[in-house]
Amino acid sequence: MSTTTLTGRERTTQVVGDLIAAIHEVIGRHQVTEEEWMAALRFLTEVGRADEFILLSDVTRTSVLVDALAHSADESATASDVEGPLYRDDPPWREAPVRIYEDFEGVDDGEVLFVRGRVTSADGAPLPEATVDIWQTGPNGGYDIWDERQPDFNFRGRFGVAADGAYEFQTMLPKPYTVPTNGPVGVYLEAMGQHPWRPAHIHFKVTAPGHAPLITQVFFPDDPYLDNDTIGAVKEALVRPLERHEGSERGLDEPFSTCDFDIRLRPLA
Ligand code: BEZ
Ligand code: FE
Repeated sequence: MSTTTLTGRERTTQVVGDLIAAIHEVIGRHQVTEEEWMAALRFLTEVGRADEFILLSDVTRTSVLVDALAHSADESATASDVEGPLYRDDPPWREAPVRIYEDFEGVDDGEVLFVRGRVTSADGAPLPEATVDIWQTGPNGGYDIWDERQPDFNFRGRFGVAADGAYEFQTMLPKPYTVPTNGPVGVYLEAMGQHPWRPAHIHFKVTAPGHAPLITQVFFPDDPYLDNDTIGAVKEALVRPLERHEGSERGLDEPFSTCDFDIRLRPLA
């Protein structure tokens, strides 16, 4: 019987059985000591206490592997990417013209960015009932939950699209940032000599009736961490160029950028 036809208990006993066998093989091959094994168990206990299992899955690049297995390279739909641990449920609904942030101390340090595109089905048909949900860091590299200067849910929000599937939202150019390092996963990164940096990115969750939901991220060219994202989540197809404009084009005091990102969703079979 092939693995894909197994269900429930059969699949559990097969997959978990193989996992245990792999752990036993590594312990035997490296002659792991009692002290080392107890330290490993204490570490996993700390990961659970700190609610860092998703983060551990991400920095060990296990999330990227599972995402790749779940979403085969289907060129007709936009590439998926890992969700990460920083999505917050029930983000605010933002009406057009969509701006996903409110002013905060430090807002002048950043550069305005308009992200725009169309949400369509894989064949190009517009999806006017689509919903787009965005989360990202502010221009100082911090998420709202880490940065006391930012209003709650800043740089987060959900919104709809136009009849032709078009969307646009105003945000600020995010910057590279480090994943949280003050918990057990920080200890792991230090021990493994792995840096904690991620390239600047914007997270998207896009849904539309009759289509598979898409979770993805958009990256920008020339970022120093594009080739060495600590969670290994950069895909070439998701690196989108930025175009610079004079502020006067949109009545702004400072120059701004635009980024075009069309989104194609896969129809459910
Ligand atoms: C993030 O992009 O928000 C993220 C992903 C993985 C680990 C930590 C943060
Ligand atoms: Fe992120």
